[in-house]
Amino acid sequence: MNRVALVTGGTRGIGAEISKELQAAGRTVVATYAHNDDAAQAFAAETGIKAMKFDVADYEACEAAVKKITAEVGTITILVNNAGITRDATLSKMTRKMWDEVMDTNLGSCFNLCHLTFDGMKAEKFGRIVNIGSINGQAGQYGQVNYAAAKSGIHGFTKALAQEGARFNITVNAVAPGYVDTDMVRAVPPDVLQKIVARIPVGRLGHADDIARGVVFLTADHADFITGSTLSINGGQHMY
Ligand code: CAA
Repeated sequence: MNRVALVTGGTRGIGAEISKELQAAGRTVVATYAHNDDAAQAFAAETGIKAMKFDVADYEACEAAVKKITAEVGTITILVNNAGITRDATLSKMTRKMWDEVMDTNLGSCFNLCHLTFDGMKAEKFGRIVNIGSINGQAGQYGQVNYAAAKSGIHGFTKALAQEGARFNITVNAVAPGYVDTDMVRAVPPDVLQKIVARIPVGRLGHADDIARGVVFLTADHADFITGSTLSINGGQHMY
């Protein structure tokens, strides 16, 4: 069915693949991005998917964007909170700014966009929310107290909101990717990454479409009995 899907951080990396797969599943997709205009324009030209620039950490910016999308495209009933950043450092070297940026962008954005779209989903008696967590929110990761806390927070947020959404046919699930071949993972120092890949039982990094397929599965119209779950897609690196 042609429903409106919003994918944050949806023009690059895992998000771009999620946007494309949702479009292929018949959804009308709007993808958000924060900085990279060139990548967003290329993505929009290639896919025909509308790309909107705003900061998902900023509640007022989210509010304006949701109003615009609702008026111009329709009520958002599929929401994929995918936008995320890293500011990796060991705790001693991590600044308060690095903590705040990651918490606000990765976890605060989930609050912002769920808060702003939930009533619309209730009115439609249909909603599919997928929050992108991480293996590092499940297992922790050296040098990522900020990211691990935010992603772990996403997993708790998901289970709490799932309980609120259930009676309105709004499902809320998380996908927890492992290490996927994206710019974010390519930024990990090569020697560190090599050791991480050596611990992945399937012997390779994930591909963005490995994650996107999970999102399409969880957002299907008939996936109404799956809620509050976390789908780990990590090549067997962490079995949770
Ligand atoms: N366990 C134990 N000790 C470790 C360690 C680990 N995993 N990693 C590093 N150390 C040790 C080092 O051996 C070193 O010890 P010595 O000084 O005794 O040799 C000490 O910790 C300091 O390490 P670094 O020199 O690496 O410290 P640094 O300050 O230069 O860098 C870091 C630290 C930024 C965390 C760097 O190690 C790093 O980038 N690590 C990768 C973090 C990572 O995996 N991020 C994931 C990004 S992708 C993502 O997040 C997506 C997703 O959802 C999966």
